[in-house]
Amino acid sequence: MLRTPTDSFTVVPTTGAQGRVRVPGDKSISHRYAMLAAIADGESTISGFSPGADCAATLACLRGLGVAMQRPAEATIVIAGRGVGGLRVPSAPLDALNSGTTMRLLSGIVAGHPFRTMITGDASLQRRPMRRIIEPLVRMGARIEAEGGRPPLTIDGGSLHGIIHEPHVPSAQVKSGVLLAGLHAAGRTRVVEMIPTRDHTERALEAFGVTVVRDQSGIELEGGQRLRAQRLTVPGDISGAAFWASLAGGTPGSSIEIDGVGLNLSRISVLDVYRRAGVQVEVSEAHESAGERVGAVRFLFGASESFSVESWEVPLVIDEIPALAALAAMMPPGHAFTVRGAGELRVKESDRISALAAGFRAMGSHVEEYEDGFTLESRPLTGGAVDAAGDHRLAMSFAIAATRAQAPTTISGALSVDVSYPGFFDELARLTR
Ligand code: S3P
Repeated sequence: MLRTPTDSFTVVPTTGAQGRVRVPGDKSISHRYAMLAAIADGESTISGFSPGADCAATLACLRGLGVAMQRPAEATIVIAGRGVGGLRVPSAPLDALNSGTTMRLLSGIVAGHPFRTMITGDASLQRRPMRRIIEPLVRMGARIEAEGGRPPLTIDGGSLHGIIHEPHVPSAQVKSGVLLAGLHAAGRTRVVEMIPTRDHTERALEAFGVTVVRDQSGIELEGGQRLRAQRLTVPGDISGAAFWASLAGGTPGSSIEIDGVGLNLSRISVLDVYRRAGVQVEVSEAHESAGERVGAVRFLFGASESFSVESWEVPLVIDEIPALAALAAMMPPGHAFTVRGAGELRVKESDRISALAAGFRAMGSHVEEYEDGFTLESRPLTGGAVDAAGDHRLAMSFAIAATRAQAPTTISGALSVDVSYPGFFDELARLTR
């Protein structure tokens, strides 16, 4: 593997992958623990915090809202909570960088504060749709300006009232933003959710002492509840682990074991997809920590079947689709991976459908693109030059597939891996040595 001083990285083909790895702390859970600690009463300690730039953006935004914090160790953050409604007027716009989760969840919190907050982000985030969070927050009583429904958002918060909200697209970010606003609102707030999405916010709220009512069709909470500071450990990120699943699963003779990974039921559908593709998946040592299931997973080579992700599964594996595409591309010629009902991929950190299709085509795969998904059919991987479009998950996806190509692959936009997985390329080199 070759580092260049620019934003590109060259991956050379390898013949096997073996080893044990710990993945970075879960990105979704890190954001939530930090935000809830900031509005709790007392001092919380969060260990295993994600080292990625996205969660660093959340911490920086919270500091901008007057939250004091310390970092006694690399992955440990101590946060002095300001209590619900206790954040300070920011003296400058908050920058969510590349992080949609930061922007959508934090919008819910600042909407409950009687001052003006401006939240902006990088070029990618500024292209992403925000009406889905603006509309319910405005209905709750906030005033929000956003040109064309895109960032930057200018939020004038204040006295909110509870609502019943049914998001137009299944979205954990929207559900969470509305519930966090609901915590600051008068009365009850209910989010109707017919298609389940990741439930880390509900579990984290409960861990901080909030009563959350969950039933068949949604989640409800009463405004005005206080949060008690906690000591919490963030489990490893299963979305990061998926890249190692594809590496081991798609490389003959390989096996990779990952300890301390989050196995929340709303995140492990991807393990079923790997099994359907023929990858051997062994889960062991599962225990619970603050309502989150954690355990060890071992992935062994076995990729042998064409596979697909059905529309109903999409919200539960949305972040792992690039890793699954890498697995498909590594299979012997003639195997296919199809995903439909995944139009949301077009409004992630990049247009993940077209950027993924372009990248895998450049490496030799055959890709048919649909408005709401794609079919990737494996062909001999030639390697070549690909563009990750500044998207961390695409950079990692291309890098994994590149290990099985006939010639080196140069990935531009590779530094983006720092968004969720700093050190990814070093780990790849270690596991394929
Ligand atoms: C996330 C939810 C998902 C996911 C994103 C993180 C979260 O987005 O794609 O990477 O932490 O809530 P949507 O809820 O918008 O689908």
